[in-house]
Amino acid sequence: MGQIARPWLLISIILLAGALAWGQSDARAVTPSPGERAYQKCYTCHSLEGPDPDMQGPSLKGIVGRKVASEAGFTYSQALRSYARKQKAWDRKALGAFIADPQAVIPGNRMGFFGIRNAQEREELIAYLAAAGQKD
Ligand code: HEC
Repeated sequence: MGQIARPWLLISIILLAGALAWGQSDARAVTPSPGERAYQKCYTCHSLEGPDPDMQGPSLKGIVGRKVASEAGFTYSQALRSYARKQKAWDRKALGAFIADPQAVIPGNRMGFFGIRNAQEREELIAYLAAAGQKD
């Protein structure tokens, strides 16, 4: 009896472990954090990994606290470069205002994005960007 039962027990454990692992990775893929979900509005134009010439916008790696218009090799608009003269770094307040309404804060900038009007969504996005900037 014991000899027959054991292999089945082993197989059940393997199947169960597999199902659990699959369930977990599936849950991660289906439910990104609110900040990560908000970032999906940015990632077609911005990388979080570092400068990428295939991207339309500069990298957002370490953007929270980063100097405005400071990515080497990226051609910023005149509008963003003059904004950099009065606003030195992207602190959370400046970033929040810009993301809320890019053209109102920096008229004439080249970022083709309408803005995120929801304050909580902006907060979660900025927290996500700050955390992403701390990896490596
Ligand atoms: C359609 C493409 C596009 C989308 C979508 C987009 N951006 Fe941009 N973004 C740009 C471009 C292009 C620039 C450079 C603008 C300039 O030089 O005037 C820029 C500039 C920026 C800058 C200034 C960076 C620096 O180095 O000073 C920040 C911050 C930024 N974007 C954040 C965001 C965030 C956050 C989102 C998503 C909510 C987003 N962008 C969505 C294209 C985009």
